[in-house]
Amino acid sequence: MGCSAGQLGSSLLGLWLLLCTWGCPGSAELRAPPDKIAIIGAGIGGTSAAYYLRQKFGKDVKIDLFERGEVGGRLATMTVRGQEYEAGGSVIHPLNLHMKRFVKDLGLSTVQGFGGLMGIYNGETLVFEESSWFIVNMIKLIWHYGFQSLRMHMWVEDILDKFMRIYRYQSHDYAFSSVEKLLHSLGGDEFLGMLNRTLLETLQKAGFSEKFLNEIVAPVMRVNYGQSMTINGFVGAVSMAGADSGLWAVEGGNKLVCSGLLQSSKSNLITGSVIYIEEKTRTKRTGNPTKMYEVIYQIGSETRSDFYDIVLVATPLNRKMSNITFLNFDPPIEEFHQYYQHIVTTFIKGQLNSTLFSSRALDKFDLSTILTTDNSDLFINSIGIVSSVTENNPQPSTERGHVWKIFSQEILTKEQILKLFLSYDYAVKQPWLAYPHYKPPEKCPSIILHDRLYYLNGIECAASAMEMSAIAAHNAALLAYHRWNGNTDMIDQEGLYEKLKTEL
Ligand SMILES: Cc1cc2nc3c(=O)[nH]c(=O)nc-3n(C[C@H](O)[C@H](O)[C@H](O)COP(=O)(O)OP(=O)(O)OC[C@H]3O[C@@H](n4cnc5c(N)ncnc54)[C@H](O)[C@@H]3O)c2cc1C
Ligand SMILES: *[C@@H]1O[C@H](CO)[C@@H](O)[C@H](O)[C@H]1NC(C)=O
Ligand SMILES: *[C@@H]1O[C@H](CO)[C@@H](O)[C@H](O)[C@H]1NC(C)=O
Ligand SMILES: *[C@@H]1O[C@H](CO)[C@@H](O)[C@H](O)[C@H]1NC(C)=O
Repeated sequence: MGCSAGQLGSSLLGLWLLLCTWGCPGSAELRAPPDKIAIIGAGIGGTSAAYYLRQKFGKDVKIDLFERGEVGGRLATMTVRGQEYEAGGSVIHPLNLHMKRFVKDLGLSTVQGFGGLMGIYNGETLVFEESSWFIVNMIKLIWHYGFQSLRMHMWVEDILDKFMRIYRYQSHDYAFSSVEKLLHSLGGDEFLGMLNRTLLETLQKAGFSEKFLNEIVAPVMRVNYGQSMTINGFVGAVSMAGADSGLWAVEGGNKLVCSGLLQSSKSNLITGSVIYIEEKTRTKRTGNPTKMYEVIYQIGSETRSDFYDIVLVATPLNRKMSNITFLNFDPPIEEFHQYYQHIVTTFIKGQLNSTLFSSRALDKFDLSTILTTDNSDLFINSIGIVSSVTENNPQPSTERGHVWKIFSQEILTKEQILKLFLSYDYAVKQPWLAYPHYKPPEKCPSIILHDRLYYLNGIECAASAMEMSAIAAHNAALLAYHRWNGNTDMIDQEGLYEKLKTEL
């Protein structure tokens, strides 16, 4: 009995192996891997895509990464008096698991502690001031806002909980063909609904008070996204999570993750600007005519081109930013016109004129971060003392003149700087097209632009953050891999949460 069952088993296995030579869904892929893949953009999106593509397609695929500026993109540091400070994406949430994994894999270290006290200024006075005593803070918050801040914490927690499902799906190799399908798999219609409504509507419906919204939530949106509560509810939740405790950054600068991923993925960096992408039929070494993408790029005044099986675009597609033209596609590849918010980061080493914010004597002023409400009429969104990328905490206050980081809508004039500071000895600025200007209802750009042409930054329509780009990169790598191998059962699966709950 045992013997015949064994025989039956092994002959079934033989049959299965035979059948699978012609392709079994979700299992052994037998199509040869692609020869060459291009990624455009070496920010966290492009470099993490290189990492995941290498993982999926193996060591023989040639991966070219195009970058016209610096590796890191919107992750960048600026030097102030010999010390480097984060000028773009700066803080990472403790539950951003992809970023955590990269740092661990690459052997990088982290810095923590964006300590100090925070105050909120409404144009006339500080409407809220943190205390260094936890219990005093709790009493103050409850005194001012009832239990609103506790409820806010629970609201964010609930969304974060659902959001975290993505890690399980991705670790089981599941991919999604659109941002909407990805979000739906995490939080169903609730998440999609959040893209359709403003944060203000969402939170008003949830019963939060005007006072709490104006004095706490709006200032957090201003510092994190340079916008008001008219942004969509989803990015609003991401932004509120960015006010959690336990935030961290990479020692030496967050951009080190990008250069690290570039290296560890053994990709080839091409320092050039991609201008056109066109599909063409090429005859490969094997002699078969194959459809490939020609990527045309400029290095200085020289124009060059190369052919690729798969292309990933990892930079916002619009004229002002990437300015890539898709030639001769039929039907044409749609143009995206997502408007990106202009934000200026300014670093100033100097002595703040704190009487601008509070009547308290200069030496009694102990706030290290000042956020502003929407109606503050001030020319800045926020101002705060920062520590360099190698320090765990801001320098002791014995030394006169901290380094302050200011976010503003426009470049600050000298008069404006002199209004804020009693004296200063150094100022540098970096203007950004920072993140989408959110205006729900959001319609997210496609991920699949064409057969083997993928777009990562559509995910920014939901929320722009380092971890979002890493999630989009992982998804695009899995999607490219499954579509290459015809594993349709790994794409857009419904009911994944229930399905994977029982599987450990
Ligand atoms: C001021 C500021 C503060 C922020 N704060 C935070 C924060 O605290 N936490 C957080 O998680 N996120 C934060 N973000 C958002 C975060 O930085 C971004 O979401 C993330 O870095 C985007 O990465 P990306 O790789 O998708 O795009 P990018 O970093 O923009 O990378 C795209 C790259 O493509 C290159 N490129 C563009 N066009 C071409 C072309 N035609 N040819 C070749 N190369 C091209 C660009 O030079 C760029 O390097 C902040 C952003 C800004 C600007
Ligand atoms: C969101 O709005 C779009 C139209 O902009 C609509 O098609 C979609 O059904 C809405 N989704 C939800 C979940 O409300
Ligand atoms: C975009 O690139 C085209 C050439 O491909 C150029 O003519 C145009 O001026 C560029 N636009 C911007 C806004 O840089
Ligand atoms: C500091 O700011 C206050 C309020 O704007 C102003 O009255 C005062 O003159 C400033 N102090 C100095 C020394 O500039």
